[in-house]
Amino acid sequence: TYHIRLVVFGGGGVGKSAILKRFLLNTFNEKHSPTVEDLHYCEFAIGTLTLKVDFLDTAGDNQFPAMRRLSIATAQAFLLVYSVDSSGSFEDLKKCFDEIREQRSDFQDIPIIVVGNKLDLAAGRREILKEDVAEWVFCEMPQLCVKVMECSARDNINVREVFKAFLQLSKIS
Ligand code: GTP
Ligand code: MG
Repeated sequence: TYHIRLVVFGGGGVGKSAILKRFLLNTFNEKHSPTVEDLHYCEFAIGTLTLKVDFLDTAGDNQFPAMRRLSIATAQAFLLVYSVDSSGSFEDLKKCFDEIREQRSDFQDIPIIVVGNKLDLAAGRREILKEDVAEWVFCEMPQLCVKVMECSARDNINVREVFKAFLQLSKIS
């Protein structure tokens, strides 16, 4: 049995909650209701293994620094989310990563997935290229357990793959 705590970070409104909701409930809400903090728990069977995952959904705006510090301290893996239609949201993600790096001396050993959400908007409104994100990741995150992906919670594109990649990075499957 594995028990893992996955913390979801990123700017406000990038779709952190929407990605979790799509993955856990296969639903999507057009309305934005800002998160303070939500904990979701889920069990998965992988062959003969039981995987228990705590998903911690956090607030995008930086209003609760003490809560953020605690989330960072207790995380065993991070999902860092930006939105492909917002270069500002990628700047927010960089700040999130700086906080992790400052606080976790073991950050190189922590699985991190960097996800560009709202891929459905990319056609006309893309502001951030995946290649540029990959280059930043290559420079700033020396760890091997890091992956850059894009998804759409709205259209259910690549969401399952994000969590599969998380299992692979965590060396669970
Ligand atoms: P905070 O909790 O405030 O930090 O926001 P969040 O990152 O959890 O974003 P949330 O999931 O609440 O989504 C914000 C808005 O973006 C909502 O109106 C969603 O409907 C919309 N949204 C989320 N995912 C997608 C997506 O993949 N595509 C599109 N087009 N909109 C999305
Ligand atoms: Mg939210």
